[in-house]
Amino acid sequence: MKTHWKLERTPDGIGWLHFDHADSPVNILSTEAFEQFDGILAEIEADPPKGLIILSDKKSGFIAGADVKNFRNAQQPDQVEAHIHHVHRIFQRLEDLACPTLALIHGFCLGGGLELALACDYRIARDDQGTRLSFPEVRLGIFPGYGGSVRSVRLLGPIPAMKFMLGGRSISGRSAKRLGLVDQTAPERQLKHAASQLINSPPPPHRPAAWQRLLNISPARQLLSPILHRATAKKVRKAHYPAPFALIDHWRDTGGNEQVMFASEATNLGQLITSPTAQNLIRVFFLQERLKSVAAGIDFKSQQVHVIGGGIMGGDIAAWCALKGQRVTLQDREAKFLTQAINRAHKLFQRKLKSKRLVQAAMDRLMPDPRGYGVKHADVVIEAIYEDLEAKQTLFRDLESTVGPGTLLATNTSSIPLESISESLENPERLIGLHFFNPVAKMQLIEVVSGRETDPLLMQKGAAFSRSIDRLPLPVRSSPGFLVNRILMPYLLEAIELLGEGVPGPLIDKAATRFGMPMGPVELADRVGLDICLAVANKLAPVFNLEVPEQLHVMVDQKRLGVKTGGGFYRYEKGKAIKENPDSQFHAPNDLADRMIFRLLNEAVACLREKVVEDEDLLDAGIIFGTGFAPFRGGPMHYIHSGGLTRMRQRLNELEQLHGDQFHPDSGWTNLSGA
Ligand code: NAI
Repeated sequence: MKTHWKLERTPDGIGWLHFDHADSPVNILSTEAFEQFDGILAEIEADPPKGLIILSDKKSGFIAGADVKNFRNAQQPDQVEAHIHHVHRIFQRLEDLACPTLALIHGFCLGGGLELALACDYRIARDDQGTRLSFPEVRLGIFPGYGGSVRSVRLLGPIPAMKFMLGGRSISGRSAKRLGLVDQTAPERQLKHAASQLINSPPPPHRPAAWQRLLNISPARQLLSPILHRATAKKVRKAHYPAPFALIDHWRDTGGNEQVMFASEATNLGQLITSPTAQNLIRVFFLQERLKSVAAGIDFKSQQVHVIGGGIMGGDIAAWCALKGQRVTLQDREAKFLTQAINRAHKLFQRKLKSKRLVQAAMDRLMPDPRGYGVKHADVVIEAIYEDLEAKQTLFRDLESTVGPGTLLATNTSSIPLESISESLENPERLIGLHFFNPVAKMQLIEVVSGRETDPLLMQKGAAFSRSIDRLPLPVRSSPGFLVNRILMPYLLEAIELLGEGVPGPLIDKAATRFGMPMGPVELADRVGLDICLAVANKLAPVFNLEVPEQLHVMVDQKRLGVKTGGGFYRYEKGKAIKENPDSQFHAPNDLADRMIFRLLNEAVACLREKVVEDEDLLDAGIIFGTGFAPFRGGPMHYIHSGGLTRMRQRLNELEQLHGDQFHPDSGWTNLSGA
């Protein structure tokens, strides 16, 4: 039998319950972990220590949450409910122990892990950057169901608790202390001492302020829940993400009676977990794990990065790498770009790190290097100079003779085939692409690009490097537009085509956001820059037989390039698009969303046929993390399969008849599994 828990009794009478899940780098609440925990609680009931301290032996943190695998493909609400009731009983057992109980938290304390901690009388968190507490459930289309909704309302008061659960954001130990979620914070070296002291003289457990408790009475709940509904509706659509709305209703209807609230948690979770939304979001969770695992087992540790080209991309890539702990040298042939890049980096560090000391340390890791001295010492060199083949070839030819034999050589090109750049190299197998997305600090994906000759081992090193700077690597084959830009382009072009047909931009954008895109395509084009859109479209158009709408040429000729020139398809005030209300007489065609989305889907099928990525899951992952494609739909390929292959293809045929060749189904449709 694998043992995940170990109870140690120290001479002072305190029980230290160590959690160290076997065969897993992080602690998760697997079925087996729960069963063993229950057994140990029975032992403790029979012979209670002076106090019980629950702690993790994993370096990564306390507990990362429930075992999401258990919920994958869940179809029976009553089975989910039974599981929830079972866990409620175990946590109740913990809460009912005769001795004081304390959760000693370091690193990640998420979801079910936090719910376990809440069933203890006290919580102490390590005071450092790496300690994060959160209820991420709403991101999986559910809400805290192991008693978390009940105990957090009890501990914090309804409004702070609801905000914390609805937001799904993670907070540090210090913020958790301010919120009342933990009783104390302590630095690493004093953690255990603080815990035993608290057990030796336990204070009364934390309670919310009296006025907060008042807000939990029924009339207050009836009054406050519509306000929470409205605030949530500003962020997400109920039709797409029902969980936060269900959480508010659950509190409104049952918040005054804990027993009823526990029961309502179970019924709600049964419904939510088995819904398509949660199942698709759980799918996205595993897609993310899949991307993370691309680099698993690769022994490549980079400490020093050299970035060449300090423009928008190079400057931001350098800043991001320094933020994530790399020593970075940044080279540009013009000093003014280096100055701008360092200033932008400083703002990023302030935003992300907050503490002066940490900002200074990050600044110290980022060095302007106009002469490129850093090249010789770098583990990774990333080229991000302007998009010009000859310039890139010359640069790499020089680099090849300067860098060390183990240095990873990467280009951030967005459209030049790797094979063309590597022509200038004596060892063309050395070049990989690391294609970052703009804005670098926001976009999680990096396309790791292999040319025909690229050494596969270097691709894996590229993926490992991406992980080390907390990014998700997607292996793609060098082909025009790689995966993300290629799939996005027909969708954007169709939107611009619609504009040309006289459909108002706001209606086009609305159709896309109703579908679940994070931003409408017209606004997206303005934000990317219409000149950049045109340049990419011009590169892809001849290869993929795309028509570039006249409207796009006109806008670029008139130098209306989008946000950066103050206006493109929309006007911008303080960075916000001004979207005029369309003429009320205008009736939008009812196939707006289909026209845009089906072009994207058709291109996705073409990319699979050409093996730009290896399989459907990687494609879905790339498009979700690279474009924000409606996560609750599980990705373009999953959306095709959910709609039914035959029906989806038929729809494409209809669109072809109505609107032309651009909807002609790619031949890859016949190869899809299930076709
Ligand atoms: P940019 O024009 O803002 O920056 C290029 C920088 O490189 C300039 O500061 C320039 O002075 C410098 N530079 C040019 N030749 C140099 C040389 N030989 N040595 C040192 N510095 C040199 O361009 P941007 O937008 O940052 O793009 C850079 C690369 O990233 C391009 O390959 C582009 O395709 C790619 N990319 C751009 C994205 C975007 O959204 N802008 C997204 C993803 C990739």
